[in-house]
Amino acid sequence: MPYRGNYTESRQRYLATYDTAEAAKYDAWITALTKADHDACLNDIQRHFTFSPGMTILDAGAGTGALCLSLVALPGMRITALEPCPPMQERLASKPELSSVTTVEGFCDHPDDHSHFAPATFDVVASRQLSNCLFDPLAAFRNWHYWLRPSGVVIVMDGLFNREDWSGRWKGVVDTLPLSACRTMATLPYMLEQAGFRIDHVGLMDATNALPSTRTKRYMVVATKAMDVEPDHC
Ligand SMILES: C[S@@+](CC[C@H](N)C(=O)[O-])C[C@H]1O[C@@H](n2cnc3c(N)ncnc32)[C@H](O)[C@@H]1O
Repeated sequence: MPYRGNYTESRQRYLATYDTAEAAKYDAWITALTKADHDACLNDIQRHFTFSPGMTILDAGAGTGALCLSLVALPGMRITALEPCPPMQERLASKPELSSVTTVEGFCDHPDDHSHFAPATFDVVASRQLSNCLFDPLAAFRNWHYWLRPSGVVIVMDGLFNREDWSGRWKGVVDTLPLSACRTMATLPYMLEQAGFRIDHVGLMDATNALPSTRTKRYMVVATKAMDVEPDHC
């Protein structure tokens, strides 16, 4: 038995956990987010990255659309949401504000997942609250590298979670996922470097963290697809 199970078990657990009822519960948190929450997220990102009209953006692990709801406020973005759990994806697709978002069903952290998109499809791969869920973060980051155009950018946002945050349905999962309870901001950029990225920024999301709705402190990593380093599988 591998020390932490395998990716098939991990995927089955996500698909079983985010059923219709759990997706509704999760989406209640997302629909409770206000314009101030979405503005704060964009504010934190735009301190370190400049969007231009026409950019192609992948929201990886999009859930019910929290990050998309921030991104659609920017004019002219072409947004794709990748999400493996159908009830989460259906909730995203049902939001009128997100009618322009293309949805794709799938996971992103196995080498075979690279076939979801052609190489150099996106200018930006962004994720919110996904990295802590990845069974194989390095495989995900290599896929993102493959899907990004030359000099494309990843924007990864997550919480500084504790072991104790993995309770209830998620009890025990903390010891199967490498980034599940990172109290450091160093591991994620270190892994992105291994996957062929140059780190541009690592820091707390000050605008987001100042809001009363933020329970767990958030941090963000911005990194560029380095053209002089190729990850293993490409
Ligand atoms: C904590 S939720 C975050 C959702 C959304 N990004 C947000 O900020 O509300 C994590 C999402 O990632 C999805 N997910 C889990 N593992 C994944 C993987 N390996 N690849 C892509 N998405 C994944 C889950 O189904 C879930 O919808």
